[in-house]
Order: sequence, then structure tokens, then C-alpha cells
Amino acid sequence: MQQSSNKKPIGIFDSGIGGLTVANAITKHLPNEEIIYFGDTAHLPYGEKSADAIRYYCITISKFLLEKGCKMIVIACNSASSAAYDVLVDFFSGQALFVNVVDPLVDAVTGEGYDKVGVIATKATINTGIYRRKLLERQSTLQVASLATPLLVPMIEEGYFQNKISRTIIEDYLGRTDFADMNALLLACTHYPLIRKEIQSYLGEQVRVLDSIDVVSARVRELLTAHQLLNDQRRNPHQFYVSDYTKSFEETTRIFYEESIELEHCAIWK
Ligand code: DGL
Repeated sequence: MQQSSNKKPIGIFDSGIGGLTVANAITKHLPNEEIIYFGDTAHLPYGEKSADAIRYYCITISKFLLEKGCKMIVIACNSASSAAYDVLVDFFSGQALFVNVVDPLVDAVTGEGYDKVGVIATKATINTGIYRRKLLERQSTLQVASLATPLLVPMIEEGYFQNKISRTIIEDYLGRTDFADMNALLLACTHYPLIRKEIQSYLGEQVRVLDSIDVVSARVRELLTAHQLLNDQRRNPHQFYVSDYTKSFEETTRIFYEESIELEHCAIWK
């Protein structure tokens, strides 16, 4: 890739607006970078979709972001990263750098001397078995307890956190015997950083609770640096697209992104 490519934007996509947690971290840690965000609100939740459907959506969205000239594409969705990362890297070989949200989280927890790690995520992510496989590839002695926790995404989107409903759901999921004696828990979904504190206080300080936001933005910086693609100055405003627009999506962005943003409808599925 040529030197001047560093001025190009970073594409970030998710099934909807949860990936804004990752976009928020990237814009904070790398303020000189311009981002183009795409939320596939026409197809959410990806967590309930088949791997084949998710792959098809991801290829089309990546084409859109590449047409916008992105130097890197961050798959800011665990369900999409689990089902489609390898496919995207093969399909778009050499056209942009791809970053998934699975590997940085797996790397952060392996080699830390832990015996047992828990993983919670959508059904789509858990069904691929990707976390278990990657964790065991890096640390074969690790015990891995994983659970699909599908109630958490709608709960968070509806603003039900830090209250008795979220406490009951969290306790029901994480109080299961499978999770007893774990040393760390991976929050393998882009929505879950919003309930990290609540989960941490339920599990207590003896369990390390990790989400993907900081580790992913650190990975983005590392890769851009290694490829001499870091931007030195942002020239254009960030852009935020969704494939289906409703007022309530726009209102919900406030939960996930610190600044107020305007969503632009882009009908890529016409
Ligand atoms: N973004 C998805 C994930 O991280 C959660 C929302 C959905 O199921 O679409 O897995």
C-alpha cells in the first residue's frame, strides 16, 4: 500500500449501533483518524442469523467501505467477526487491512496463567465455537465455559442496565455452575461494555472482566503503525451510515457513543 494511503478513512461496521462502542474507543485513542461507520440496522440482530447470511452481509458492507476508500476495515461485531473474518480476508486479499474483535480479546487473556475463562456472547458467536477454539489453540490446558446470552442485547438497547431487571438477568446467566471458579470472563459482544461494571460487581474483583474496546483500538493502532498508515491530521468529519433508519436508532446511539451523531440512511440492500 502506498504512503499517501494514511490519509484514507478507517471503515468500521456492525450489525447495528452496538459497534459504536468500538468506534468511540478508536476515535478517542486515535483522534487523527477519520472513520466511516456502517450499521446494518436492516438486518440486525446478527446474533440470531446463520453464518452464511452474516458472511453475505459482511462482503457487501466491506465492498461499500472499500468503495469509500477505506484503508482498514474493523469488524466491530463479534457475531460478524466470528462468522466472516477469514472469508473477508480471503475475498478482499490485499485491498485493505481487516481487524476482527475476537483475536485481541483472546490474546489479552491467554498466557496470563489463568486456569478457567468464561465467554458470553450472542448465539451466532457461541455457535461458531471460535472463542473456545482460539483460546485452546493458544493455551491447550485452559478450561473454557461459554454461554449464549441473547437477552443482554435487547436489554441494553432498551436502556435496562444498572437496575433490577439487568441484575436479575446477569445473575441468572452468570450464576450458573459452569462459571464457578473462573479467573476471567470475556464479554464477547459489542454491547456488553455497557454492563461491564455491573458484571464486575456481581462477580467480584477476583474475576477479571474484559471487553474488546481497548484491546481492539490498541490492535488498530499497532497495525496502522506497522503498515505506516497512521494519519497525522484528520481533515473530514466522521460519517455514520445505517442501512435502515428510524428515529429510535438515532436516539439509541447516545448509549454507545459519547458525542451526538447524525445517522445517514444508505440503502445498500435495494
Ligand atoms: N453486534 C453484535 C455482536 O457483537 C450484537 C448485536 C447483534 O446480535 O446484532 O455480536
